[in-house]
This record gives sequence, C-alpha cells and structure tokens, in this order.
Amino acid sequence: MIIRTDCRCCRGESLIEVFNLGEQPYANAYLSAEQLGLPEQRCSLVLCECADCGMIQLRHVVDATDLFSNYSFLTGSSQRMVRHFAELMRENIARYVPANGLVVEIGSNDGTALSTIPSERCRRLGIDPARNLSDIAHERNVPYITEFFTEILARKVLQSHGSASLIVACNVMGHVDDLDDLCRGVKLLLHPDGALVIEVPCANWMLSRTEFDTIYHEHLSYFGIRPLATLFSRHGLRVTQIRTQEVHGGSVRLTMLHGEGHSGQVTPWVEGEMRQRDWTAFGGRCEESRERFIRWLTKARDGGRLVVGYGAPAKATVRLNYCNIGTDLLPLVVDSTPNKQGKFIPGTHQPICDPSRIEEQITSDVVILAWNHEQEITTKLAGYKANGGRVSSVITLPGN
Ligand code: TYD
Repeated sequence: MIIRTDCRCCRGESLIEVFNLGEQPYANAYLSAEQLGLPEQRCSLVLCECADCGMIQLRHVVDATDLFSNYSFLTGSSQRMVRHFAELMRENIARYVPANGLVVEIGSNDGTALSTIPSERCRRLGIDPARNLSDIAHERNVPYITEFFTEILARKVLQSHGSASLIVACNVMGHVDDLDDLCRGVKLLLHPDGALVIEVPCANWMLSRTEFDTIYHEHLSYFGIRPLATLFSRHGLRVTQIRTQEVHGGSVRLTMLHGEGHSGQVTPWVEGEMRQRDWTAFGGRCEESRERFIRWLTKARDGGRLVVGYGAPAKATVRLNYCNIGTDLLPLVVDSTPNKQGKFIPGTHQPICDPSRIEEQITSDVVILAWNHEQEITTKLAGYKANGGRVSSVITLPGN
C-alpha cells in the first residue's frame, strides 16, 4: 500500500481530504468458511480532491496484484451490460474500424464485449490481468493477454499485431494508479485515424445520488470531465465526444482521437461539475442513508420478517460495513455469480447463496443491494412477488 500525494491527472500536489469511510476490508475479498475466524486485512478509505483540476482519488493505493489477479465480477452475468457493450462495439467499429482492423479492449473481463464482434469483421484482442476471467474468454475464442495494460505491453502488441483502430476501456481507468503509463501505451498503440473510447462512472452523480457504496479500494479514481480532459491533453489526445450512460449509477462515455483541442462539449461540463460539489451535504446524506437502512432492517427483524439481500457486489460489502450490519440484522445474501456462492461478505460475514434460496425459503423481504441492476433483478423476482414476497431497493428504502 502506498499513500498518493499528487493528482494522477494533472500531477498537482494540492490534495484536500473530503470524505473518510474509515478502515474497511477489501470489498471483493469474499471469505471462505475457513477464513471466517482469521483476522481480515483492512485499509483506510479516504477520498481527496485535487484543488487544481477537481480530480477525486483515494489517498491509499492498495497493491493492484492483490486486488485484480482473481476478479469476481463477470460482465456476462448481466444481460443489460451485455447489450450495452454490444451496442458500444457495433457503433464504434462501424465508425472507426476498417475491415480486418484491430480492436483492443483494456480490462476485457470475461471477454463479453469482444465476443459480440463477429471475428470475420475485425481482429480482436482482450487485455486483463485476471487469470480466472481469461479462461472464460478463451472458451469464447476471444484472443486474450493476461496482463496489466502498460506502455511496455502496448509496445509488444504493436510489434505483434500492428496498431489498433479502436481501443476500448470501460470501467478500467478508475482502477489504474499510473494513468500516465496507460495513456502513453494508448498513444503508442492507437492508429493515426483510430479512436479511444472509455467509460467511467461520473463523480458528480456519485455525489448527487449519494452513491457512497461505489467508493472502495479498487476504485482509485472518481472522475469528472475536467481531470480527464487535462490528462488526455497532456498525452496528445483530444476529447471529441461526451455521452452520458445510465449504467453503474451514472457513467460518461468519452471518445478521444489523436491531436490537440477538445470538443466544445467539454467547457460546459467543466463549469457545471465544479459548481455542484458539496461534500458536507454528501456526508450528511450518507449518515441519513445509514440510519434509514438500520431502522428498516431492525423494524423488519422485530416484526418477525426474514430479510435477504440480493446481490453481493463490492458495493454491498461497502454499504454493509459502513452501516455495520451484521448477520443479526441481515442473515443472508444471494448472488448469481457461481464463484461468490459458498463464500461470505468481508467484514460483516453474511453467507452468499444461490438466488434459488429465495424461492426455497419463505422470505418475506428482499432488499436489492446491487441497485444498479434493480430492473433485471426485479424481473427475476416476479414469481416471488406474485407469491406475496416484498422487494425493495436499498437506495429507495422508506424513511421509517
Ligand atoms: P456490479 O454491478 O459489478 O457491482 P460492483 O462493481 O459494486 O461489484 O456487480 C453486480 C453483482 O450483482 C454481481 O455480483 C452479480 C450480481 N447479480 C445477480 O446476482 N443477479 C442479477 O440478476 C444481476 C444482474 C447481478
């Protein structure tokens, strides 16, 4: 673990602490039954804001190899995300990739996005350090390099495959400590007429929607447009398009080309995002949200109702730990990801079971912890609801 003292977008050194979630376990470090009795690794979760460009980043940077060599989230487990990425690929390949051109995806997870591209249309290459995910991608016949994307790797790919007409990096920039190295790699690998397309959750929505549970050790950065535009222009890449996306609690998709001078879309975004930030109000809303969740669970338990949490994403670990909710208030969570089942939530120790447990056991209340997949999960619970079960989302629980 290192403490970062400069901004990873503009390299300024005026970082101001704006929010502190205390010592927290690693959100994706699901525990086996044997690990339950052992001490758990914890690390501070402190957000800092750059006084120069407005970048928001964690003060403590955990060693990436600890966090990413075995990654639990599979993009393919959400049909909505599969459709989202298929569309992104279709649209950008039509625009930027000639026949047999190269598409590189950085942080390609289980190969879901690349597998939506017909292999006869263009060449595909996934790059992701998670070994367990590359096995799945290989089964889908997606060419894959199991490594972190760096300038050194970009040079090797350039030699072996030639330049890339399209480089896609969705939900990956926030995980990378050395963004200069990533940008140098992109600059090197990207064809002169090629495009870089990234997606990142939008920091201002995180604030305005009180999405504190998206803050965890893997998410080193919480971007606005200004820090990103600053970063890319330092590397000779210009932002040509910004589009909002309703995934992961509110994201932005940016397209970059080689060259200088950002699109006229950038200035209004930058002005808006600096005006909207109020950390004191955010802190107050996080407290309220915690109190509301505890009150709701306590009332359910005291009323003899059994509550099950739906989804064991990293954000569930953060919320349950921030709210200090043990198995007395929430005895069980379910998740469709096979390698999470049979394990336990870090810190608060709820067992993670197959979602079929909801139908098997007469559960009176389901609270959706994976709130960014609410619609998809609610649809799956139609039968349960028809039998009298109640379904709520953790972010819209009633006040009393
Ligand atoms: P994700 O959206 O990646 O959140 P985070 O980035 O906070 O980890 O994770 C979603 C989780 O929800 C994942 O573990 C799979 C689970 N899930 C279900 O169990 N059932 C579903 O129908 C869907 C869509 C997701």
